[in-house]
Amino acid sequence: RPGRPDGAKGLRFRPVEPNTKDAVTVPSGYDQNLVIRWGDPILRGAPDFDADKQSAKAQAGQFGYNNDFLTLLPLPGEQGRQVLFANHEYTNEEIMFRGYDPEKPTREQVEIAQAAHGLSVVVVQEERKTGKLKAVPRHKLNRRFHSRTEFRLTGPAAGSELLRTSADRTGTKVLGTFNNCAGGTTPWGTVLSGEENFNQYFGNLDKVTDAEAAARLKRYGFEEGATARRWEEFDTRFDLAREPNEANRFGWVVEVDPYDPDSTPVKHTALGRFKHEGAEPQLTADGRPVVYSGDDERFDYIYKFVSDKRVRRGRSRADRAHNMTLLDDGTLYVAKLTGDSPKKEIDGSGKLPSDGEFDGTGEWIPLASGDESFVDGMTAEEVYLFTRLAGDKVGATKMDRPEDVEPSPRTGRIYAALTNNTARGVDDGAGPDEANPRIENKHGHVLEIAENWDDPSSDGFVWRLFLVCGDPEDDSTYFAGYPKDKVSPISCPDNLTFDPYGNLWISTDGNALGNHDGLLGVATAGERRGEVKQFLTVPKGAETCGPIVQEDRVLVAVQHPGELDDASAEKPGSQWPDGPGKINRPSVVAVWRKDGRRIGV
Ligand code: FEO
Ligand code: CA
Ligand code: CA
Ligand code: CA
Repeated sequence: RPGRPDGAKGLRFRPVEPNTKDAVTVPSGYDQNLVIRWGDPILRGAPDFDADKQSAKAQAGQFGYNNDFLTLLPLPGEQGRQVLFANHEYTNEEIMFRGYDPEKPTREQVEIAQAAHGLSVVVVQEERKTGKLKAVPRHKLNRRFHSRTEFRLTGPAAGSELLRTSADRTGTKVLGTFNNCAGGTTPWGTVLSGEENFNQYFGNLDKVTDAEAAARLKRYGFEEGATARRWEEFDTRFDLAREPNEANRFGWVVEVDPYDPDSTPVKHTALGRFKHEGAEPQLTADGRPVVYSGDDERFDYIYKFVSDKRVRRGRSRADRAHNMTLLDDGTLYVAKLTGDSPKKEIDGSGKLPSDGEFDGTGEWIPLASGDESFVDGMTAEEVYLFTRLAGDKVGATKMDRPEDVEPSPRTGRIYAALTNNTARGVDDGAGPDEANPRIENKHGHVLEIAENWDDPSSDGFVWRLFLVCGDPEDDSTYFAGYPKDKVSPISCPDNLTFDPYGNLWISTDGNALGNHDGLLGVATAGERRGEVKQFLTVPKGAETCGPIVQEDRVLVAVQHPGELDDASAEKPGSQWPDGPGKINRPSVVAVWRKDGRRIGV
């Protein structure tokens, strides 16, 4: 009989071997179930999923596509139940629809895809006897947010002329949220969600005649001609030439109150507009929220927002309404990181400098606060709307694709996943620096930040690279100094979360080591700091998203099973989750210990 697995508390499981199985694989002694799949009905009146009879109306009452960020909130008074919140980042039409013609999508397909984007709130219930977690359809809190749901723009840029369209002369009412990638859970019981690659929904950049507008759109990655989904052919708001300000209404952090199904969700302009991966808050000692957010693009920046207002702890309607305004008043900052080793020692190979660490100091450069801009040549409104340009002007540090930026609830230290950047040091791309030390960075790294005086509102910090990812046998990798013969390989860190013991859990997207993506845990303190252990892997073509690690259960969002890098690649792709001949369905999976005990203890 093998002995009890060792590891830091919370990480005592036998690591899963890297693999290419078309399955969710979990450690021995653990079990799993599908909590909810794309198309499962959640609202009253929504039909069961039928791939061959799907409609936009059905989809608007069903769980959306490509579940990404997940969070679970308590549901007091309902035994064994919690409230699950999920982002639905994007759609894979070529997988969703049999015989899909990308040149000629039908109106129905377009409208199904639009309804499959957005967010879901769905109550889930634990089955006492089995350990399974199941969705509760038709619960009164269940809700879908999609392309036609009304959102309210708030904060200092709300109502700006650049946010007004022919359908909304006020510049404050937006229909829909798109490409919601990661998110955050607030201490006041709401959920934040980042609008990430919103550029891909808007076409015809080449027909935009205003040169300044075109340059700004270019900085955000908008493209010429038709989009891949061709929504602009069905709805003029997605045509940059016809409705030039509509695109300015996306790229924000969204806030939802999942406990009030009648509430209007909000887009907070004070947090700036960029490709928000997620938005994760922590509180200052005097109760003001500070929200960290990464802009997921090669050579883009890490930001934080510090609120001027204090959270109210009460649960009254007035307290909740106050808390929904916390992210409207405050200061937006961008990060600049400076290494402490000589530049010549950072040669792009990933070899550690002579002081033994990639580390240094940093400053949070203020960009704007309320109506006041701190950026030469830009108004505050321009800073919020075109935040990337503000970061460019103040010399922020160009990072290797900042994904989740997550404060540890235990220590307040902040961890940022820099997923990869194969353009680092190539052609015109910026060269290596101590915070992004490898050229052609295929596997990414994880940055650790400690705010000065442990104060989240501080304008300075110290930082070090916690992990430099890849195959531990590769000399350019680093696992916080932990012996590399005792760790799992890790590539392309994306989403981050913490377990109840303070261990960091990392899900991956795009494993460049040839194996499938997965979820890994790593101790951040103590003797085992840096010991990375793989907890699960996901099926063919899938990315691992939205990890939640509770005391007795782990949840992951299995996103885009069957997605192929190359449309001409091998068929069939994945058969997950419903088996041969069935259409792949992105799903939420729960994992628990068969003996009912706590995870990793
Ligand atoms: Fe949607 Fe940056 O991952
Ligand atoms: Ca992500
Ligand atoms: Ca150093
Ligand atoms: Ca990703």
